[in-house]
Amino acid sequence: MQPLLELQNIEIAYDGEPKITNVSLTMKPGEILGIVGESGSGKSTLIKAAMGLLDASGSVNRGNIFYKGQNVLELGDEQLRTMRGPEMGMIFQNCGSALCPIRTIGDQLYETMEQHGYKDREAVKNRAESLFNKINLNDCERILSSYPFELSGGMNQRVGIVMAMILKPDLLLADEPTSALDVTVQAQVVREMMALRDEFGTGIAIVTHNIGVVSHMADQVAVMCRGRLVEYGKTRDVIDNPQDAYTRALIQAVPRIRRR
Ligand SMILES: Nc1ncnc2c1ncn2[C@@H]1O[C@H](COP(=O)(O)OP(=O)(O)O)[C@@H](O)[C@H]1O
Ligand SMILES: [Mg+2]
Repeated sequence: MQPLLELQNIEIAYDGEPKITNVSLTMKPGEILGIVGESGSGKSTLIKAAMGLLDASGSVNRGNIFYKGQNVLELGDEQLRTMRGPEMGMIFQNCGSALCPIRTIGDQLYETMEQHGYKDREAVKNRAESLFNKINLNDCERILSSYPFELSGGMNQRVGIVMAMILKPDLLLADEPTSALDVTVQAQVVREMMALRDEFGTGIAIVTHNIGVVSHMADQVAVMCRGRLVEYGKTRDVIDNPQDAYTRALIQAVPRIRRR
């Protein structure tokens, strides 16, 4: 089976200074990859590189990144733009702040969906409503008619999550998607991401500090430390038998998982 995403011996530098060295990862379609590691270890950089969204000072100096066999590093801006959304979706920690401040949530949702061929507003609204409800946003009418500033940060974040999920991407890249949300809502978001995978075969790469989330949802785990992949394998193997000291410390901090 062709991998969904494949990183081969990647090196990434900012302003010429290498920050990621020799990282290789493979995701199959429908697979969930958990990415953990301390702050500054390069998790966000990897995610951004995978979708061709590195900051201007960043460059991939070695290796290859393949999405469904296409070399992401060789795709043009236009090709990448059309892939983002229905092919590769993304959820960032502060994706609520990516919403346009002067247009209602509904206008933005309908426009995005129209751009991708979903012209039936009623169908879009129904799907949005069902996703909203599952992550505790219960008044769909009000949300759609609101401007982002009329909603809380956590609500905007959840709107951003729904905007990414509603396009049913084949690959969802989620960078600390729930860090700013309260625990109950975090659990709901995790459940919905898993439902997306189960219903539509969405592969998910999720960066999180929550090893409990990784243990619950990920098929594979990648542990980053100072720009390197220090551990990578099936979730059960990594959690039951961590080889790296950093991974061990991370897991030992959560006694419940050790016992499972
Ligand atoms: N735009 C940038 N310019 C320069 N250095 C950056 C930039 N973004 C990230 N870095 C550096 O690259 C390293 C990895 O950062 P990042 O990928 O954000 O780590 P993480 O997401 O694991 O916290 C860090 O040393 C960080 O300071
Ligand atoms: Mg980060």
